[in-house]
Amino acid sequence: MPGSKEECEHWGQAAHAYDAEYRSVMGEAFESEIRSWLARQFTGADEVLELGCGTGIFSAMIAERVKHLTATDFSPEMLEQATQRLGGYDNVEIRTEDACHTSFADDSFSAVLAVNLLHHADAPATVVRECHRVLTPGGKVVVIDCAGHDTSLWSWIQMSLGYLRRRGRPREDHHHFSPDDLAALITGAGLAVQETTLIRQRRPRMRFICLRAVNAD
Ligand SMILES: C[S@@+](CC[C@H](N)C(=O)[O-])C[C@H]1O[C@@H](n2cnc3c(N)ncnc32)[C@H](O)[C@@H]1O
Repeated sequence: MPGSKEECEHWGQAAHAYDAEYRSVMGEAFESEIRSWLARQFTGADEVLELGCGTGIFSAMIAERVKHLTATDFSPEMLEQATQRLGGYDNVEIRTEDACHTSFADDSFSAVLAVNLLHHADAPATVVRECHRVLTPGGKVVVIDCAGHDTSLWSWIQMSLGYLRRRGRPREDHHHFSPDDLAALITGAGLAVQETTLIRQRRPRMRFICLRAVNAD
């Protein structure tokens, strides 16, 4: 099942203001913890596929560490922003791809990265199966996703009110993952979970699940 046209249009409309939205939610200390966790996941030998890269915030965090990064998203408007951010890197290629069904051959990448994609995706199990398909044997999938089950009601209200002021009615997330839910999703696609770390932010109170799994085929 491909990602829906409606979903793609939603992200297209969000693209221009996305970075400002992100800055309004993510504190600096929190971001630096995520940045250093992410830096530990990759090596200079990695050929990485990023799914749902959005404006390229996380692509830019890993671009200098890896051999090659193919940053993809299904929204052309998001990719316009990513192109501005990532234009200076010789080892980064930007492509339009649906995370449910990419155009890459089996076993093409040593690593796949997906940040804040799975809880929004129409069909997260399909996305994770696609990660498995394009990974080389022994390759890894690195996922960072909001632990929606653990965000306080007050934080949701604060974030939703901010969103309402800036952009109108907020869109519902499709999924609210706990670390166990996310691990089950990944394991269900035939990948073996190696590490799950929870990174916590105080205001707004949010938790992010940072997970690495390996293709044990
Ligand atoms: C919350 S944003 C995350 C962007 C970026 N990874 C970040 O964390 O800043 C979700 C992104 O996933 C993309 N997306 C959602 N479903 C997708 C799909 N089926 N295929 C490709 N991209 C998708 C959206 O266009 C959007 O850019």
